[in-house]
Amino acid sequence: MVENSFRLFPEAASSIAGQVDALYAYLVLVSAFFSLLIAFLVIFFAIKYRKRGNEIPEPVDEHSIGGMVLEIVWSVIPLGLSMVMFAWGASIFFTESRPPADSMEIYVTGKQWMWKIQHNEGAREINELHVPVNRDIRLTLTSEDVIHDFYVPAFRTKTDVLPGKYTTEWFRPTKVGAYHIFCAEYCGTKHSGMIGTVYVMNEADYNQWLGAGSGEGSMAEQGQALFNQLGCATCHASAINKQNGRCPNLNGLFGSTVDLKDGSRVKFDEAYIRESVLYPQSKIVAGYDDIMPTFKGLITEDGLLKLVEYVKSLGPKNGTQTSAVPAATQTSATETTAGAPIKGASQGSQPKTRNQDRTSPQAGSVPGNR
Ligand code: CUA
Repeated sequence: MVENSFRLFPEAASSIAGQVDALYAYLVLVSAFFSLLIAFLVIFFAIKYRKRGNEIPEPVDEHSIGGMVLEIVWSVIPLGLSMVMFAWGASIFFTESRPPADSMEIYVTGKQWMWKIQHNEGAREINELHVPVNRDIRLTLTSEDVIHDFYVPAFRTKTDVLPGKYTTEWFRPTKVGAYHIFCAEYCGTKHSGMIGTVYVMNEADYNQWLGAGSGEGSMAEQGQALFNQLGCATCHASAINKQNGRCPNLNGLFGSTVDLKDGSRVKFDEAYIRESVLYPQSKIVAGYDDIMPTFKGLITEDGLLKLVEYVKSLGPKNGTQTSAVPAATQTSATETTAGAPIKGASQGSQPKTRNQDRTSPQAGSVPGNR
């Protein structure tokens, strides 16, 4: 259970937690050692060199070898200690920012003031996240309004959740139990109430929980239904597409690099799909015209994530080479952040009625806590 008793450190319940704590202990020990040393020397020298009567101090020899040695020692030792902090910290940072390839994927949408979570298999939750123990979990996060931050102290991991962009966070829970979720970025009046619980379960319990399901089908299935409802299928579905060639065929594209009309290239990833639905004119695939209408205002962030899952299900997974776009060579992921305005950022403390929620096919179908 979530513990209410006072403790200096949160429980360590993820694979990275031990490493973060070790680094933190090193920082504390180095800081404590030098704080005590300096405090001691301040007092010691103040007493030792205090003014006695009319004594005149001896002049200091600025070019003495001893002075030079002292300068070098107190420059090189702190440099070494701080470079250890840098290298150690960077190594943990890189580990935390690179989800393992076969991670289980879960989608998180933050909004004032709740966390909405969608599992690939279709289960949905609010302010609760159920995960199996000893599995790598990759969260893809986005926000419907302002900047939030998904923070699980017991996992020692935290990531900003931004409107108009997908960010990722990963962890490997190592202990069955319930742990706090906090929002770690001030996001309006009820920021402090934007909390939740991660339930880490045995594989069997998790599968049983998942099996209880939403009855709405997997995210990809729901995405496909949305794909048809919104009319995407009339142009992008492969059979029709082959006849008129007006729109890119989406089969097998995910994870590839596509050539754009302006000569640049873009990685066909989650962010590019999102941007193409909301701002279709911003990155047009080479050989096609600017005929796609925007779906901004017609689809929620939850709906976008379902479309992303559907398009993913049509093609190779992230990072794999594909032959769907023969001319493309794999390049590093291109930043494809959609330039969505930060809606509601200036009115951070007011809950808003959102048109998207009403026009979305999923409106009102989010079940509460299960
Ligand atoms: Cu959401 Cu603070």
